Amino acid sequence: MIGSSLRRRARTALVVTAAAAMAAAGTVALQGTAHAATTLGASAAEKGRYFGTAVAANHLGESGYVSTLNTEFNSVTPENEMKWDALERSRNSFSYGPADQIVSHAQSRGMDVRGHTLVWHSQLPGWVGNLNATELRSAMNNHITQVMQHYRGKIHSWDVVNEAFQDGGSGARRSSPFQDKLGNGFIEEAFRTARAADPSAKLCYNDYNTDGVNAKSNAVYAMVRDFKQRGVPIDCVGFQSHFNSASPVPGDYRANLQRFADLGVDVQITELDIEGSGSSQADSYSRVVNACLAVSRCTGITVWGVTDKYSWRSSGTPLLFDGNYTKKPAYHSVLAALGGTPGGGGDGGGGGGGGGATCTVSYAETNRWGDRFNGQVTVRAGSAPISGWSVNVTVSSPQKISATWNGSPTWDSSGNVMTMRPNGNGALAAGSSTSFGFTVMANGNWNAPSVGACTAS
Ligand code: XIL
Repeated sequence: MIGSSLRRRARTALVVTAAAAMAAAGTVALQGTAHAATTLGASAAEKGRYFGTAVAANHLGESGYVSTLNTEFNSVTPENEMKWDALERSRNSFSYGPADQIVSHAQSRGMDVRGHTLVWHSQLPGWVGNLNATELRSAMNNHITQVMQHYRGKIHSWDVVNEAFQDGGSGARRSSPFQDKLGNGFIEEAFRTARAADPSAKLCYNDYNTDGVNAKSNAVYAMVRDFKQRGVPIDCVGFQSHFNSASPVPGDYRANLQRFADLGVDVQITELDIEGSGSSQADSYSRVVNACLAVSRCTGITVWGVTDKYSWRSSGTPLLFDGNYTKKPAYHSVLAALGGTPGGGGDGGGGGGGGGATCTVSYAETNRWGDRFNGQVTVRAGSAPISGWSVNVTVSSPQKISATWNGSPTWDSSGNVMTMRPNGNGALAAGSSTSFGFTVMANGNWNAPSVGACTAS
């Protein structure tokens, strides 16, 4: 969460030259070598969004898979590893191995993680359905609490409840152990429990066939409006967006996202895949991206897998990379819609991003007291992944830097120039960011420090 609020701040930052920055106070951004973004993640980041993918832990040993993931995406959703049957197969016995593997991969590269999913009728172990109402309530709240506390502070957004409404015209709730035994109130209870377990995660309701205005999305809309009116904690609505010829991108997709956003929640496209091929698939993908970009509270897009060969609907070839990790027409239309430009490496092999390793920095003063202030520098990778970075921060005498965090500093002989490098692993995915901070003792001088250009390796 800290990462994403910084990202928001960085994106509104004024871009100035390094010389002007020495005089400027407040938030500034220092641009390194200018490169148009050449990857999905970096170009989405330039638009203030993330671009993510579902990931399966058992493919993380495959080099084509990992290089495509690391190059192109800056958010991940575990495809199955955080579902109830994966995490709590028997009551109160939790196994986090594969999910932890995905989270640590993402964390080590500055990618966001979407948590998917806490309360869902599917991929639910049998024991849950056999409980009576009292036991089921306590098992549901325990599951949410244990899982969210295990990942506390590491999850951008949680799908707290998934697919609780029926298809068709009824607008009714879907039958499930939760619905049938606990009634409509189970959704609200799940969200309240979730807020208490990890206040730093955004809490989403997620569903499919809610992408246009229809009876099902109207029912979800009414629930979200009611939650907002009564103060039930909800921050976002996820639109799965699984499309094919029988269920194409709806004409009112953007309008539907917008009406939810107008309720005061973020909207996210959470499981995008579109069956088809060639230019018709590419056109549908660009319509989805344009719809998200047209809604300021549409904060990101996740496609439901890296490559067609591992898609849950593999025969429909619904993703952006084929089985050889070659970029499909749909990839190019998504990149173009995001404002990116094709990387130099052409198709295949996961691509190097073309621009080489670059990074940019932005600075913000985050706190001020009578004698000192805190500064924070956000380092963002450019259009290619980077493995390390360094940034010089210069204070002017008699200022002194008295403390630092989230970085490993070295100093010049005057003590005024601090060179900050990563604390441990400095890898960042394309378009991903990290930040470090420091305290400056003002000694009467309140000038903002001079933050030099970012050097990537
Ligand atoms: C799917 C996975 O992709 C498959 O691997 C698994 O066998 C079944 O679930 N809606 C959701 C996702 O919220 O969790 C589903 O994922 C796809 C539909």
